[in-house]
Amino acid sequence: MPRAVSVTYAVWPTPAEVAAGAADLFASAAITAANTRGQARIAISGGTTPKAMFALLADRSQPYFARVPWEKLQLFWVDERTVPPDHKDSNYGMTKAAMLDHVPLPAANIHRIQGELEPEAAADHYEAEIRTSFRLEGAETPTFDLVLLGMGDDGHTASLFPHTEALHALGRIAVANRVEKMDTWRVTLTWPVINHARRVAFLIEGAGKRDILRDVLLGAYDPETKPSQLIRPASGTLSLLLDAAAAAALPNDPGQPPPYIGSLELK
Ligand code: 6PG
Repeated sequence: MPRAVSVTYAVWPTPAEVAAGAADLFASAAITAANTRGQARIAISGGTTPKAMFALLADRSQPYFARVPWEKLQLFWVDERTVPPDHKDSNYGMTKAAMLDHVPLPAANIHRIQGELEPEAAADHYEAEIRTSFRLEGAETPTFDLVLLGMGDDGHTASLFPHTEALHALGRIAVANRVEKMDTWRVTLTWPVINHARRVAFLIEGAGKRDILRDVLLGAYDPETKPSQLIRPASGTLSLLLDAAAAAALPNDPGQPPPYIGSLELK
């Protein structure tokens, strides 16, 4: 059986408010890590949800831009599609347009997954880059200061899709993962690496995620069909940043000033 873990969730009425909460979390985690360890190592997800957060972080009229210690931030990705960086589906490409082109993050601090390579080669290259950046020795596991995740309506997170090989990848930092139902390959961090982070946070929005979020949090433990259930940090914290639509099946009190803060024990 899995490790029991406490989950804290915050619910805001709208996606825009979730994005602001996520930008605040990003900045706070970066500041804490930079002040404590001299640098902040954060892994971000792609997809559509994080785009508004990236835009807020890059917006100099917003309070987050000035808070982020950009020169001390080392930015990684949780996963990537096997496409070139300028492809419309590239997670890096989306982040570049929404944030990287507008912030003073040194190029050397940007650790993208080279989706233009063959999948296995991309995974090997990324794993080597992480090992170098974290100065890992032997079988050491990297400890990210923050990992930001999304969740698909099929229960996947990162590129850990139901019934795929990556769900069983142990002893690796990053792997190539064949996703038959999408007839594609992805490159992803493995779930043990995600669980080794100091903080893991899901950003989940929209009514389309309501049922899968309820099933992942409150349903039977079945990570083969609900891979997001694999995410149970070993010693770090797990939080969810949700809008009301995604959180509609969870205990909530919309009558109080947002965010509503709830907690659950995942058995
Ligand atoms: C990706 C992401 C993926 C994403 C979920 C949710 O490469 O697409 O890393 O894991 O977080 O699919 O995507 P949305 O935010 O678009 O719902």
